[in-house]
Amino acid sequence: MKQLWWWIGWVGMCVAAAQAGEVVWLSTLDLTKMRQGWGQPQVDRAIREGPLSVGGHRFDRGVGTHAKSVLWVDLEGGTERFLAQFGVDDAAGNPKASITAQVLGDGRVLWRSPVMRPGQPAVPVDVVLRGVRMLTLLVGDAGDGIEYDHADWAEARFLVSGAAPRAVDPPAEEVVLLTPPPGPAPRINGARVYGCRPGNPFLYRIPATGKRPMQFSAGGLPKGLQLDPETGILTGVAPARGEHRVTIEAANAWGKDRIRFRIVSGELLALTPPMGWNHWYMHYDRVTDAMLRDAADVMVASGMADVGYAYVNIDDCWMNAPKQSDPLRVGPLRDDRGNLIPNRHFPDMKALTDYIHARGLKAGIYTSPGPLTCAGFAGSHGHEAQDARQFAEWGFDFLKYDWCSYDRVVKGDHSVPTLQMPYRQMGEQLRQQPRDIVFNLCQYGMGNVWEWGAAVGGHCWRTAGDLGFELDRIFEVALKNAEHRAFSRPGSWNDPDYIQIGRIGNARGSGEPMACPLSAPEQYAFMSLWCLMAAPLVYSGDMNHLDALTLNVLCNAEVIEVDQDALGESAEVLPAGEETFVMVKRLEDGSRAVGLFNRSEVEQLVSVRWADLGLKGPQRVRDLWRQQELGRFASEYGARVPRHGGVLVRVWRSR
Ligand code: GLA
Repeated sequence: MKQLWWWIGWVGMCVAAAQAGEVVWLSTLDLTKMRQGWGQPQVDRAIREGPLSVGGHRFDRGVGTHAKSVLWVDLEGGTERFLAQFGVDDAAGNPKASITAQVLGDGRVLWRSPVMRPGQPAVPVDVVLRGVRMLTLLVGDAGDGIEYDHADWAEARFLVSGAAPRAVDPPAEEVVLLTPPPGPAPRINGARVYGCRPGNPFLYRIPATGKRPMQFSAGGLPKGLQLDPETGILTGVAPARGEHRVTIEAANAWGKDRIRFRIVSGELLALTPPMGWNHWYMHYDRVTDAMLRDAADVMVASGMADVGYAYVNIDDCWMNAPKQSDPLRVGPLRDDRGNLIPNRHFPDMKALTDYIHARGLKAGIYTSPGPLTCAGFAGSHGHEAQDARQFAEWGFDFLKYDWCSYDRVVKGDHSVPTLQMPYRQMGEQLRQQPRDIVFNLCQYGMGNVWEWGAAVGGHCWRTAGDLGFELDRIFEVALKNAEHRAFSRPGSWNDPDYIQIGRIGNARGSGEPMACPLSAPEQYAFMSLWCLMAAPLVYSGDMNHLDALTLNVLCNAEVIEVDQDALGESAEVLPAGEETFVMVKRLEDGSRAVGLFNRSEVEQLVSVRWADLGLKGPQRVRDLWRQQELGRFASEYGARVPRHGGVLVRVWRSR
């Protein structure tokens, strides 16, 4: 009996000890593992290195951070409780500061704060963690951007009864390839409509997956066009003004596919968003003629051309510069007749475009309306007509016209007429060339370019600055770009910048290529967003190291169909939750493409009701990434969406 009491007493003491636990302060963990939107996490200080202070109350211990912030802590099930005081640091100094916090245990929300604003007293945090293996501490921006979002996890501590908590890297996400490889039978992919100008040279490679050899044929081809039955390349002279309805067929030993295709000869080009590759984020100022030829070869060999990628585009640095580290890029900018001189890495521009065209692909080039380009090479100022003529003679099909150094010409005047001037001027020059040249405005969205880009002759325009290597901002960039959806239509596209996945150069560092830092779900979400927004699909990574994931993300024909849809609509954004949203895009056949997105740090259920999409009755739902039918859904569809991920489905009325 005595022994029993002793045992009971001992167990009781252990429980009490476990409940109390040893105290481990959050600020003693390895805070280099904390990711945050601005600055570095601070030990026992606020983000700007002043004392931790919330609502006028000072705290000696804690962690100063900044939205959005994430810390993963491995608890191994050995922690009993997490305690803290959370709020906006008093040094934030701006009423715009607003933050939220969440404590997650093994992916489940265990605690969440209300929206915290400057001056408010800290909210107490007391979360029971018994049995939890992985803890996630999150600070959000309360949905209004991260400006002034100084956050304090004051007096933050763990009560530990087992293994000590350890700050760790985010758990690695498994790479799952969602899209099955294309089948052996032919499938004709890409756009169903193509715009050209009467009498100009015509070139279109019919994108088709399936085993080669394949036999192509076309019914109702207008006069002046020929189809190469083996390559599926249409060439000739663009037909008379009007809409020409053609039937295209591709056949091989496994079957055949037939589509209806419209060739619209008139004013408009780029009736669907341009698709291709641009050298910038990979080769920067190292670009050479050989790299472009290589990219053209890979575009065909990798299957990219079979799903619709067509433009092989040179960006900056193909001309001479007054000064540059590579002597082969330094030289006279123009000859004595004023013609631009390509640098010595580009010995023969016409031969280069011929090489690209011979593969059924198109060639793009770059210049700036200022005296110099962004990288300090020869620009087109004062030579606009001559350069437009030169680009056409060389055989280019696409011009990216940057803004750089034009500020010097207009002395910083950013009124809309001044912003329009250089683009209108170049637009008119391009229009006069005996070639179809797609005109890409690159002035980062100044003066609401989406409102007038088409009127000055543009076909697509960057809506913001360079996406660069700030890939953690893709959701933000996409949501901003989607605000201009009213201006998306055939021949007029909002461009949120290139698709940067696979191996890409690091714009911030030496420019040497490295693996894309995005997880697989982030990469699929990236492509889904761009397709829903009818954005130009221009890949800007390493064509010589296209791995399975990169190709899987870039080359899903059903996903690309959403981008290339002939209606040209950009998706509408419907808020779904604090960190989730839905995008819906109407497609030509009456169906809808629907993206369910999750910006948060943990998997979330994201749902959409048919009524919110203006749909009545049951709908058939297809998962576009997996290319799988999901069935018939009576009134809504929901899916578990991975952290920073997206699910893309297509919804048809079900009879
Ligand atoms: C600007 C553009 C980029 C690229 C560089 C070239 O930054 O926005 O896309 O063309 O110039 O210097």
